[in-house]
Amino acid sequence: MSKASLNVLLVSASLFADKGNSRALASSFVSALEASGQPFQLTHHDLVERDLPHLDGAEMQAWMTPADERSAEQRKLAALSDGFLAELRAADLLVVAAPLYNLGLPTQMKAWFDRVLRAGETFRYTEKGPVGLLEGKQALVLAARGGMYAGTEMDSQTPHLKSMLGLMGITDQHFVYAEGLSMGDEPRAASLAEAKAAIANQVEALQFR
Ligand SMILES: Cc1cc2nc3c(=O)[nH]c(=O)nc-3n(C[C@H](O)[C@H](O)[C@H](O)COP(=O)(O)O)c2cc1C
Repeated sequence: MSKASLNVLLVSASLFADKGNSRALASSFVSALEASGQPFQLTHHDLVERDLPHLDGAEMQAWMTPADERSAEQRKLAALSDGFLAELRAADLLVVAAPLYNLGLPTQMKAWFDRVLRAGETFRYTEKGPVGLLEGKQALVLAARGGMYAGTEMDSQTPHLKSMLGLMGITDQHFVYAEGLSMGDEPRAASLAEAKAAIANQVEALQFR
């Protein structure tokens, strides 16, 4: 990869804030990127701290109303998603620090995806099915899990993330898993160390793209 500055958008959503395992993985990523010498800019949203609400009908209607016809209230409602979209469009790399909660994503993280998966903005429907409108972006998912699911049918989170990212056209996807984090201190430490090494490899690979 050239030394042009990498624009990184990080979204996290641990209920344990910066004590969460997914945040530890995100910190490892940022440290590895800093150590690499690659110039980068980072935008980070802690979606729990931000208390991101569920998407509701009024907000969706605001998007569906042409910008010049929106009421003052609709302009305010649409600004949240429009802001997230602008950040995502500007990003070269989306990093998703993803806790596994009840076999899925934290609700606040789903609420972020609900605001960037917008027909006509990040994908469009065609006769042949949906087509992603974002191009040339990479995604790195840093998944933190209490149990062991990767590569099994029980892992419903990975296909969900792959599909959502793919729908927007982000097909260059990379996943790092730290699993077994609730299975005792030793397995947890080993898993986090393994994930940290995998993250360092991902950052190294970024250098040569
Ligand atoms: C509300 C809640 C639900 C959870 N559900 C699962 C689960 O379905 N499967 C699992 O393996 N671990 C589950 N865990 C454990 C988390 O995956 C584990 O704590 C992981 O570290 C979460 O990332 P975090 O520490 O960044 O929050 C759950 C934890 C919480 C708090």
